[in-house]
Amino acid sequence: MTASGTLRRVIPECVLALLLFAMVSGSAFAEGLMPHPPKGKGEHCVASTDVMRRNHMDLMKHQRDETVHEGVRGKPFGLAGCVGCHAVKGADGQPVSHGDSRHFCRSCHDYAAVSIDCFQCHASRPDEKVKGAEGSRSGLSGLAAFFQKERP
Ligand code: HEC
Ligand code: HEC
Ligand code: HEC
Repeated sequence: MTASGTLRRVIPECVLALLLFAMVSGSAFAEGLMPHPPKGKGEHCVASTDVMRRNHMDLMKHQRDETVHEGVRGKPFGLAGCVGCHAVKGADGQPVSHGDSRHFCRSCHDYAAVSIDCFQCHASRPDEKVKGAEGSRSGLSGLAAFFQKERP
């Protein structure tokens, strides 16, 4: 085989290798920039993962009329459920609270610059004691405080 014949065979291989390298490192780069929500417990979420990814905010908001009237009644959309299946353990083996950036809800929100106030009233860890929204007694007083604040 002539020298130019060898070159003609080698050059496309080099180009291919370069392209492959660019593709691999390019996607690794993109990966590093994407949020990585920790995996939930069990087989399924309360709705398909795709729906949860795109629509969880609308499924849960209780301040919104559409949710209160036609939304989540009878369906397992309680925040305690989310927090239970999506608990992330810290170094001490205990579930982290929403104050910790590893918390499931913050795994995307920090990335998307979303901030939520839900955990002022709702527990952000499965073992957390009532903050206001869980448990009927404090739930009621939390609700009363909420309506007093929203509707003076
Ligand atoms: C029975 C356990 C369970 C409950 C309850 C639950 N989830 Fe999930 N969730 C999962 C599983 C399993 C997946 C799919 C695997 C994974 O984590 O990617 C998932 C996926 C998700 C995703 C998509 C994550 C991704 O990778 O893009 C979001 C967002 C989410 N859940 C939010 C919620 C919210 C909000 C609630 C409460 C309304 C909730 N989940 C309740 C188990 C649960
Ligand atoms: C000012 C306090 C307060 C804030 C802030 C708040 N909630 Fe609530 N939430 C309540 C109370 C009180 C209830 C009624 C609890 C009960 O029925 O015992 C409730 C009920 C719920 C329920 C249905 C029952 C359950 O246990 O999950 C969902 C879902 C919910 N809230 C989601 C949210 C989300 C999402 C946010 C943030 C966008 C939020 N809440 C912010 C006080 C609050
Ligand atoms: C897979 C990524 C992801 C995870 C995990 C996630 N969220 Fe979100 N969430 C988003 C994105 C993105 C938005 C902003 C959507 C928009 O602006 O349209 C959002 C918005 C919200 C909003 C509306 C905020 C507003 O001001 O309008 C609420 C409420 C909310 N998420 C609750 C939760 C809770 C509670 C959890 C944990 C149980 C959670 N999310 C986990 C991606 C995620």
